[in-house]
Amino acid sequence: MENIDLEKLYQNTGITAEAWSAAWKNGNKIQKIQSYNGCFWLKKSEEINRRFLYSGLEKASKWFDMKLLKPVPKVGGIIGITIERERILQLHKHNILVPQIITSGDDWLLLSDLGIRAANVFRSTPEVEKNYRRQKIELIANAIVELHQKGQYLSQAFDRNICFSGENQDKVGFIDFEDDPGSIFNVSDSQARDCLFFAHSFTRYFIKDQSYFIDILRLITEKLPTLQQDNIHLIAAKLAWIDKLPLQSKLGNDYKRLNFAVKALSRIEVK
Ligand SMILES: Nc1ncnc2c1ncn2[C@@H]1O[C@H](COP(=O)(O)OP(=O)(O)O)[C@@H](O)[C@H]1O
Ligand SMILES: [Mg+2]
Repeated sequence: MENIDLEKLYQNTGITAEAWSAAWKNGNKIQKIQSYNGCFWLKKSEEINRRFLYSGLEKASKWFDMKLLKPVPKVGGIIGITIERERILQLHKHNILVPQIITSGDDWLLLSDLGIRAANVFRSTPEVEKNYRRQKIELIANAIVELHQKGQYLSQAFDRNICFSGENQDKVGFIDFEDDPGSIFNVSDSQARDCLFFAHSFTRYFIKDQSYFIDILRLITEKLPTLQQDNIHLIAAKLAWIDKLPLQSKLGNDYKRLNFAVKALSRIEVK
């Protein structure tokens, strides 16, 4: 670790020397550090994270050579942390809720807490609480539309990278920016990707409330340029056959999720 002023860090954050050193010693890439001032996240560099490569989206992009679904190559290491730092600063400039960088070194960041992740909120809300789920997804959709209107885009618009902050958990924040889709896509394509990733990640929470979710998808896609909207429809159409595969129950969760998302996406156009 570089020479940072630890006394100042402890003073500003309330993190104790013990907690700081414990967070450094464990092997976790991301570590929550609790202090009397709240909590913080220490994010360390990691050699290329391959988890995303095995998601349903990645497989689909390979089968169909669909550029928009391709994962942005993860560089990992110091470069990954540098990208995340720059992306966070850039999004801050546009008043988008992303973590504050409390302090950082070449290969690590200490980030402020953005609250509870959307994945946990949706998973812990019973499906019958339709209105609560609707309220939450609408907050997320509006936050994405807002950031798109500012010419910005996310990195991986998944439920695990979107948080609810604030006392009433009514502010939507975004985390995890080690890759920059803008390095291989233009802004509108990066935004269309956000819509696809969002659909892939959240459709499963609205299986029994599909027409509402389709309205939400429409809300976030309709502001995109026509070319990108057409691309989204094209991808949904290309993928439509996956619903016809035999032995679907044996194909696992990636498949199920992708199938739900494709069905939802292909219905956006129908008014
Ligand atoms: N600033 C933060 N506020 C709240 N939760 C966070 C924050 N940073 C990370 N997390 C938690 O840690 C998890 C992993 O962090 P993330 O930056 O997404 O790294 P990874 O590349 O491993 O997905 C997130 O899904 C979230 O639960
Ligand atoms: Mg993440």
